[in-house]
Amino acid sequence: MRKIVIAGNWKMHKTQAESLEFLQGFMPSLEETSQEQEVVLCAPFTALNVLSKNLHGSRVQLGAQNVHWEAYGAYTGEISGPMLTEIGVRYVIVGHSERRQYFGETDETVNLRLKAAQRYGLTPILCVGESKQQRDAGETESLITMQLEKDLVDVDQQNLVIAYEPIWAIGTGDTCEPKEANRVIGAIRSQLTNPHVSIQYGGSVKPDNIDEIMAQPEIDGALVGGASLEPASFAQILNYKKDAG
Ligand code: 13P
Repeated sequence: MRKIVIAGNWKMHKTQAESLEFLQGFMPSLEETSQEQEVVLCAPFTALNVLSKNLHGSRVQLGAQNVHWEAYGAYTGEISGPMLTEIGVRYVIVGHSERRQYFGETDETVNLRLKAAQRYGLTPILCVGESKQQRDAGETESLITMQLEKDLVDVDQQNLVIAYEPIWAIGTGDTCEPKEANRVIGAIRSQLTNPHVSIQYGGSVKPDNIDEIMAQPEIDGALVGGASLEPASFAQILNYKKDAG
């Protein structure tokens, strides 16, 4: 059974105070959210501890946005798996295109981070996806095939979520056509050894397009940026209408 996983990626947004304010508006709306669905909030490192304390006993899982491959050491600016699990973090985003684009993340470091996440008991959310240029050049499949081949070396596919995030759809309002996202996600699944891996779509997911996205048979959830910052819009996404499309 593939699990539905809907995760908010807050990126570099929200102080501790703002995170708590979000919870006040957000938690009541979860009563309408299907119990089968996994709800994840991937917050900045500084907000994780306070969120963990306030989410204790709730159904919301906490996620981080990066993890280093060593448990400790001289790695200024990095955070390790044990530091995250100690405060109750369960998920971690690895290989987001913003890290690949702006912070020199490579498929090799993505692979190291994925293995470390699993080693320390976290479930990684691996992000893959093509740029506009790559899509226009017809390289979408070959690029993603290459990313998966390199990123997933020695990675346990029993403890993994993948997010297909076309770079051109991130933060642009230019959502990938749901049927096309479904097609690419099917192609991703065909490369996996475990067909039960949950594969999300990410890139300008909003309350007004989530029903059609979730109606696609290959799509098992969403990784939501901007629309996860407001309690009302993230709740609307979580409470999407089934059987739409
Ligand atoms: P937006 O939903 O803001 O387009 O961001 C998507 C994303 O990058 C989630 O990781």
